[in-house]
Amino acid sequence: MRTLDDLLADGVAGRRVLVRSDLNVPLDGEKITDDRRIVSSAPVHDALAKAGARVVVCAHLGRPKGLRDPRYSLRPVAARLSEVLGREVRFASDVVGESAQITTAALVDGDVAVLENVRFEAAETSKDEAERGAFADRLAALADAYVDDAFGAVHRKHASVYDIALRLPHCAGTLVLRELEVLRRLTESPDRPYVVVLGGSKVSDKFGVIEALLPKVDRLLVGGGMCFTFLAAQGHGVGGSLLEADQVDACRRLLADNPDKIVLPSDVVVAAEVSDHAATEVVPAAAIPDDRKGLDVGPDTVAEFGAALAGARTVFWNGPMGVFEVTPFAEGTRGVAQAIAGCDGLTVVGGGDSAAAIRQLGLDEAAFGHISTGGGASLEFLEGRTLPGIAVLEG
Ligand code: 3PG
Repeated sequence: MRTLDDLLADGVAGRRVLVRSDLNVPLDGEKITDDRRIVSSAPVHDALAKAGARVVVCAHLGRPKGLRDPRYSLRPVAARLSEVLGREVRFASDVVGESAQITTAALVDGDVAVLENVRFEAAETSKDEAERGAFADRLAALADAYVDDAFGAVHRKHASVYDIALRLPHCAGTLVLRELEVLRRLTESPDRPYVVVLGGSKVSDKFGVIEALLPKVDRLLVGGGMCFTFLAAQGHGVGGSLLEADQVDACRRLLADNPDKIVLPSDVVVAAEVSDHAATEVVPAAAIPDDRKGLDVGPDTVAEFGAALAGARTVFWNGPMGVFEVTPFAEGTRGVAQAIAGCDGLTVVGGGDSAAAIRQLGLDEAAFGHISTGGGASLEFLEGRTLPGIAVLEG
């Protein structure tokens, strides 16, 4: 796979380089509430601009479904990128239309421009190869070379991730390379004990990765909304907690096949409602009242998970342990995150909600070995699936 260093060695001065970045950040109106992906993406823009390239940044924001929706405009993201880079960043108000053409044609060496949200174009995510290809042709016409640095989107077979690389000289950006290097350490002879912590709401979303990881790990600690389907598989009532009834049999099979590996909560925090003022109670996981929902793991579970994590040499964590956004249900995620942060071995956080939890709970990001910018992408990598955005760079 060619790298950014190879492209820089070829010389980029005067060349228009299209960089696909993952700038999919959470917004509250126009306010960016977590700029991690922008900050992580900026070094590639900076290196190319300093080398004299004319940098054209292409990215998605949310899922506007092919419609021009101002709520998903990348304009505030371009403004934040400009602050991070400490240089002017131009903004094209469309993706491949007149504004994009005029903006990219006007770039001089060292300039940076951001194109409007690539998902305003329905062809970007189309299943129809010809439709995607025609759009990729128009995107490719804006540049002379392509850098894929959007790790969070490499699992998508989209025009700006996949088809474009079939049309331009291409390479992987440094963020993509760093993410791959760390994730490979989780799949190729990880140091032991290897402990994986999974949470989040749906077990159905994580089933593939659970099946792929179980043969490799020493312990799989399960919390979050998904633990209730496992508890139901053990025969416990789960009250009004999240439950995927159609996954109970599959969870029962996993528990039977891996009796010593899968560790479930022994206690949970329950309440009648998800609210800042909810009356909470800690109950045994096997005795959740019918009229209550489990919304966090309890203190005994935090201690037990902490003990399993204490001697770990490799840890992967994806998904919060409870509804951490709501204060009464944040302590499980906080406690488990602190235990992970205290590990001496390699600790990897798999993006998305877990990364948001680290920030929101005010935990020290530097205490974690690696916080991935890709949630779904890192899970699909660990699942062993082919990532179209990587496969095309290798081809
Ligand atoms: C993410 O947020 O995980 C990436 O930006 C990919 O977004 P998507 O799931 O909408 O493709």
